[in-house]
Amino acid sequence: MPKTVVCLQQKGGSSKTTLCIHVATMLKHLYPRKKVAVADADPQQSATMWMGKGAIEDIELIQVAQDGDGKQLKKELADINADVVFLDLPPFVESVSLRAALYGNVILVPVGPSELDISAAQRPLDVCNEAVGLDPTKVVLIVPTRVREGTAAGKELRDVLAEMGRVSKATIGMRTAYSDAVSAGVGVNHFAPGTKAYSEIEELTIEIAKELGFGRPK
Ligand SMILES: Nc1ncnc2c1ncn2[C@@H]1O[C@H](COP(=O)(O)OP(=O)(O)O)[C@@H](O)[C@H]1O
Ligand SMILES: [Mg+2]
Repeated sequence: MPKTVVCLQQKGGSSKTTLCIHVATMLKHLYPRKKVAVADADPQQSATMWMGKGAIEDIELIQVAQDGDGKQLKKELADINADVVFLDLPPFVESVSLRAALYGNVILVPVGPSELDISAAQRPLDVCNEAVGLDPTKVVLIVPTRVREGTAAGKELRDVLAEMGRVSKATIGMRTAYSDAVSAGVGVNHFAPGTKAYSEIEELTIEIAKELGFGRPK
């Protein structure tokens, strides 16, 4: 079974797919010898559309949980020939997302700075904590996202999130590079080298890779 990184949130537009693809492509960039896959379990198929542009050639894309429930999810993940699979989930915390919380080695919960974003994080985190109760090796990382640079919101958000669980070292800013890279069908590793978007995704990726036991990047 490949190591599994899950992007989980019940709110649409909370950067699940954005993190999933940018971190997957950055991990492949930093660890070229690792086999990386993306599994799309969202019926909206945003990850599939992004990767369908054909510019990301070294990462396999697989559709999973086509039944909507993910009854076969464990087998579908086990059948993927990769060292690590990034699982992009739909915007609800039921059925396939509950199963994903069970099978994920690292669960990313992206949370934006608005009150609505923060309150929407509680249920996914409750689910994650239950899954950690069953498997204490599982790591849950709350990832602050869509933070506008130069505002107090980033620091405040980190303080609030720290009360809710472990917060990633990286804070992900509100940056056009993230959405522009989508249009180009690539990750920021390719689209925006030398930028803050690159360095914050790199920092997040290295933290995740360490939890997966991947050692230092090249
Ligand atoms: N940090 C960010 N900066 C700028 N735009 C972002 C950021 N995160 C997400 N977006 C944009 O917001 C929209 C929703 O993000 P997405 O990752 O698709 O959310 P989800 O998968 O949780 O529904 C997309 O258009 C995406 O490009
Ligand atoms: Mg999505």
